[in-house]
Amino acid sequence: MATKRQATLHPTKHPLSENTRGAMVELLQAHLATALDLTYQTKQAHWNVKGMNFIAVHKLFDELHEEAEEFVDSIAERLTAIGGQAHGTVHAAAENSLLDAYPLDLVDTEGHLRRLSDSYAKWSAALMKGVEEAGEAGDDLTEDLLTEVGRGIDEGLYFLESHFQVVDTSYRKQD
Ligand SMILES: [Fe+2]
Repeated sequence: MATKRQATLHPTKHPLSENTRGAMVELLQAHLATALDLTYQTKQAHWNVKGMNFIAVHKLFDELHEEAEEFVDSIAERLTAIGGQAHGTVHAAAENSLLDAYPLDLVDTEGHLRRLSDSYAKWSAALMKGVEEAGEAGDDLTEDLLTEVGRGIDEGLYFLESHFQVVDTSYRKQD
């Protein structure tokens, strides 16, 4: 079992209490690791995907990668703004990510779309909890940031799932 690390806080004039900042740094640290993990899950898919609609899916994965990178930066900088020390290395991310490890042998478009949608759904659920936690702690700006990230992740989930959602076509039989 991994030992729980004490959040390192730097001296700051930030008005939130040290306790709240410590709790928010810990919360943001997990989301930073998850954002970093997703950054390379999307690249893994971008590099290795093959199959029908290759070019569209290859480009979509790169766009999702770029968006995840923006999330990495905004989460890390909120964390440092409240006095935290960002754990932003790939090594730290591998240890703290909320996502399951992405398979290295996936090839087909549907496989990548489905597997990435699992990651997006998992992070979406964790972000909802994080929004609640930040709200209860009284850190409105962290709550707002996680809400914004959640909105982006939910849109990404929609883009991924739209490739394979079962569509009811029974309306066609009416004419
Ligand atoms: Fe590329």
